[in-house]
Amino acid sequence: MKHTIHFTVNGEPYTLDVASHHTLLRVLREQLVLTGTKNGCEAGECGACAVLLRWPGAERFEPVNSCMILAPEADGAEVITIEGLAHDSQLDPLQEAFIVTGATQCGFCTPGILVNARALLDRNPDPSEAEIREALVGNLCRCTGYLRIVDAVKMAARAADTPDKPGFFEKPGLSGLSGLSAAKEVAA
Ligand code: FES
Ligand code: FES
Repeated sequence: MKHTIHFTVNGEPYTLDVASHHTLLRVLREQLVLTGTKNGCEAGECGACAVLLRWPGAERFEPVNSCMILAPEADGAEVITIEGLAHDSQLDPLQEAFIVTGATQCGFCTPGILVNARALLDRNPDPSEAEIREALVGNLCRCTGYLRIVDAVKMAARAADTPDKPGFFEKPGLSGLSGLSAAKEVAA
């Protein structure tokens, strides 16, 4: 059975016919070809499929595992995927920090971790290490040992505190404006 849904993804409005048994993950990857969101377990266990989602009427975006949401449920929602974190050819500070600290190895877990870390920094710009680890508890990484991931989130939080400090990541042009904030502006 097909449903027609209207939703926005990374600020772009879409009207799609979706199968009632397909997940939001499947729609993002197969119908919109946004393959940055990864399919790890399809069981809500690994966090590789995390996206930011704002339900109709909700105040803020929340990270969700898109494999656990049926596509028809996304009707009216706003979704931000990993492809929506960078703007105007500028990476999100978290993405910069992951590169600088070497927090990515095979990279399969990285989109989901970045999405959850972005949600954390938007609700808590100065998280403790314990709060970072708690926010990422649903993201499994088989490569890194997590130390550099935690370091990267700390670095991005510090960078947001010092947006006027050029070269924080040894790269020009870091504005300190979070990708999520920018995406909200685009969506407004
Ligand atoms: S693919 Fe969704 S939690 Fe693993
Ligand atoms: S970098 Fe390979 S699973 Fe995390």
